[in-house]
Amino acid sequence: MKLWGGRFESGPSEVFERFSGSLDFDRRLIDADIRGSQAFARALERVGILTSEERAQIVTAFDQILEESSARSFYAGATDEDVHTLVIRKLKERAGAVADKIHTGRSRNEQVSLDTRLWLRDECDRVRGLLCALMGALLKLAGAYPYAVIPGYTHMRRAQAVLWPHYLLAYFEMLARDWERFGEARRRANLLPLGSGALAGSGFPFDRAAIATDLGFEGITANSMDVSADRDFALDFLFAASVTMLHLSRLAEDWILYSSEEFGWMELGDGVTSGSSLMPQKKNPDSLELIRGKSGRVMGCLTSLMVTMKGLPMTYNRDMQEDKVPLFEAGDQLSGSLEMARAVVESVKLHPERPASAAEESWVVATDLAEALARAGTPFHQAHQIVGRFVLESVRGGKKPADWTPEEMRQFAPELTGDMAVLLDPRRGMQSREVPGGTGPEAVASALAAAKERLERMTL
Ligand code: ARG
Repeated sequence: MKLWGGRFESGPSEVFERFSGSLDFDRRLIDADIRGSQAFARALERVGILTSEERAQIVTAFDQILEESSARSFYAGATDEDVHTLVIRKLKERAGAVADKIHTGRSRNEQVSLDTRLWLRDECDRVRGLLCALMGALLKLAGAYPYAVIPGYTHMRRAQAVLWPHYLLAYFEMLARDWERFGEARRRANLLPLGSGALAGSGFPFDRAAIATDLGFEGITANSMDVSADRDFALDFLFAASVTMLHLSRLAEDWILYSSEEFGWMELGDGVTSGSSLMPQKKNPDSLELIRGKSGRVMGCLTSLMVTMKGLPMTYNRDMQEDKVPLFEAGDQLSGSLEMARAVVESVKLHPERPASAAEESWVVATDLAEALARAGTPFHQAHQIVGRFVLESVRGGKKPADWTPEEMRQFAPELTGDMAVLLDPRRGMQSREVPGGTGPEAVASALAAAKERLERMTL
């Protein structure tokens, strides 16, 4: 069926129908389309286009169509241009002539915006729930090894020792910001576009605020041309999805390394790894590699819609129909990745002695020593020089921090007093980093407690 045709002498060619149809993908909006159309029927009653009997007939028919729509046969043989057309055809089949009134004063341009906003709202809620579940798993893993020490890296070189929970809390912060970003995306999408018409505003005096309340929107959009032209809400979602995937991808990259034979810090569960068809010894981190790989796909979705939108003249252009595939694709890949990441986090066994010895065998304590010298009165630049030479001497002599005695240290440089020798143990230097947000054990314990409280509030 088509919602137009009077002006045409012949119908669309088969190739154009096939090329332009969107039912294959926009059928995912069917719930939203029906819920929106039911609210619109109530609005039509309020402006006197539908009687209350007609409205009731339409709303009931829509309820039945919604129920039927979960059956496979529902779409069999459908050649409708898009989901909006299909829904109206189904209404006609069920309710008869009264269906001809449902599109009074409404355009598909505002309808598609409405449907997408409704879909996005639910999707944001779902994603936020999955983010909370993942954050919860990270906090649990942090609590399982509260005192484990790892070398923190810059430039992929051992830099300073940090606590394992401190490292995990860094990801907690990223995901908490993602949770907020999806809240923002939801908030901006949560305005009613209906009443905008095709681009100029509806010719019927709808009480837009009442329709907004009916559909649970926070308010109404302010400009009808903006509604027809705007896909910012989709871009907001795609950006939030891309940044979340970026975070998951970095976590994946870390753990692909940390679980390798070279690092040996952790073991990933059997349930989230795969073997090799040829090499019997292999236990591969495919789940993490796929998260990393899918992040590229999601970022591609953002780029795709950005490029689609950038040159469009005001207002609606059919190009905009191409927003849905990337939107659904990003939502699906993101949800799958969040679920997968959670399962991986829940499967991890840390071997705390491995990262601890990586920290002990390296010079992650150098900064602790330099700062101790500065605290004792040596200007920091000189302290840096002294410790730099101390490290050079150690590297030349093949000495690890633990190989030095206090006497030898003092002999090397009189500023390195005996009491500073304790700082050769990376755990000791960490105790000076009790600044809020630092890796001092007390700072980390309270950060962990604070994160748990924040997560509880997010889950509400
Ligand atoms: N299927 C179209 C889309 O997704 C709906 C809007 C159609 N509007 C139009 N003027 N052809 O964008």
